[in-house]
Amino acid sequence: MCRIFAAALAEGPVGPVLKAGLKRLEYGGYDSSGMAAVDQGKLQIKKGVGKLDEVDKSVKFDELPGCIGIAHNRWATHGYPSVTNAHPQVDCTGKIAVVHNGVIENFFEIKERLAENGHEFKSRTDTEVIAHLIEDYIKKGMDFLNGTINAMKDLRGSYALAILYSAEPNTVILVKNESPLMLGISDEGNYAASDAVAFVDHTNRIIHLEDGELAVITPKSYKIYRISDGESVNHEIETVDISVSDVDKGGYRHYMLKEIMEQPVAISYALNLQAQYLDVVSELVRRSRITYLIGAGSSYHSCMAGSYMLSQISGMPTIPAVASEFIQQFGKTLNPDSTTILASQSGETADVLKVASYARLKASTVISITNVVSSTITRLSRAYIVQQAGPEIGVAATKTYTTQLLVYYQLAVELARKSGSITEANSYMKGLHELPRLAEKVLEDVSEPVNRLAAELKDANHIFFLGRGINTATAYEGRLKMLEISYIPSSAFSAGESKHGPIALIENNSPVIFVAPDDTSRKVIMGNIMEIKARGGKAIVFGDENDSELKQASDEFIGMPQIDEMLSPIIYILPLQLLAYNTAILKGYDPDKPRNLAKSVTVL
Ligand code: G6P
Repeated sequence: MCRIFAAALAEGPVGPVLKAGLKRLEYGGYDSSGMAAVDQGKLQIKKGVGKLDEVDKSVKFDELPGCIGIAHNRWATHGYPSVTNAHPQVDCTGKIAVVHNGVIENFFEIKERLAENGHEFKSRTDTEVIAHLIEDYIKKGMDFLNGTINAMKDLRGSYALAILYSAEPNTVILVKNESPLMLGISDEGNYAASDAVAFVDHTNRIIHLEDGELAVITPKSYKIYRISDGESVNHEIETVDISVSDVDKGGYRHYMLKEIMEQPVAISYALNLQAQYLDVVSELVRRSRITYLIGAGSSYHSCMAGSYMLSQISGMPTIPAVASEFIQQFGKTLNPDSTTILASQSGETADVLKVASYARLKASTVISITNVVSSTITRLSRAYIVQQAGPEIGVAATKTYTTQLLVYYQLAVELARKSGSITEANSYMKGLHELPRLAEKVLEDVSEPVNRLAAELKDANHIFFLGRGINTATAYEGRLKMLEISYIPSSAFSAGESKHGPIALIENNSPVIFVAPDDTSRKVIMGNIMEIKARGGKAIVFGDENDSELKQASDEFIGMPQIDEMLSPIIYILPLQLLAYNTAILKGYDPDKPRNLAKSVTVL
């Protein structure tokens, strides 16, 4: 998704600072990048199409002069990726520049109205109308602040904006409505960004803007206003705990690999969830008549696995659902007796936030599981649990997926304890505490066989992923990793479904990956392996290292340590993440920046 960054520095040049911030924000979108600064009373703009480094090579962002600037990484929504559509967007006079994350719903109406009044539009973006709208109010005699406040009142939709006006060269105006935006405060200058990682090199003192607020920053000051009545507002400065090393690659070639390999640590953090949060959340779920588990992408897969954990450990039936479908599928069933658990590592996915707002209107109890404590979802939730995975930069979710599973597991155990269905949680907790060591061992042991497998699979036309029971979710997630970064078409099914259609695609040597731990599904999945082999398919099986029968039945077998069924998805996804990573590398793709994707999707 688009990401924005702004800096008002006591000393320039602003170009290198903006470029470093955009680099950190690249996970959010990268089909074009651009910057604007005010120098000697004039706007200077540099922008281009492609990843930041490619654009930088031709436009040389470091050479952007001045002390005050705004910057943008784009993930196209309105208008294809082109230099004209890249941000910043400017007004007719070339004095106002805007960068934007979000979508202006009524841009077409405004554009028509402004065009009738003589405004000339160059781009296909919704963002450009904002620059012209502010220009219109300034023409009527308003200053930058009042012109912007009035323009904002005309807009409908979601937007985080950073705006420059060359006639007031010491100032950046920021506006937030339904898209993330925060200020970074320091003695050397003030910043604003969609995510604090952009300015973490300069300050860890942040202010979260609320929807409907506008901030004015200069190198030495900041002021916040409510747009509805123009009154000034005070917010406390929070000190956040993100260090520069947290967002570096730590010696790995890619963030994705770093994040896969740091899962043993992330898992051990996620074992230390704060007891009081778990207590509150489990109590709310326990009282609920019906509970939905909702997410998008990998977070939806963790909801799938979570529903098995909740039913099998605590006897609590729950319904996993995809966020973008939820309102139509189940919206009418929400009421004050229901609970809506939203899993979103970023806490900013628009489809998920929409469900949160809807569920609040229906007085459903909204609970979130997220990795970002300062995200929008936590503000919309009655209670939330933070996954503690540390920042995840790679677009493909890895450690945030495994830590979400851990949250669901601990919630299930806590619910079971509360409802008395287990007298003591020790045996469950014991398995949990062995996980970091086990994860470390698996990552070490599978690296060689998985590398070999990646070399075999890299030219495949299609890969199947099959699992049963709770590991149906592992098959889905393994398949998502593979297709999103290696671009090999892949399908996932619960293994029992394969004979109801997918098996028609099996030909000689078609690769089929089975997730087959020694669990309650082990016997039946053997039958599914045989069915595939009988049709010439190649059975690549991840199973218990002591399972000699399974080993014999497989064309390729990768042994995994023995593990409790409900914890097995956390361990069995690890080799599938590595497999996807290695396959992408062998195919020459950059796994941190898969085409057409964004780390968090802030449009519906
Ligand atoms: C995007 C990302 C996925 C992620 C999904 C949900 O599509 O590319 O990796 O799983 O959003 O993100 P969330 O932040 O809500 O978990």
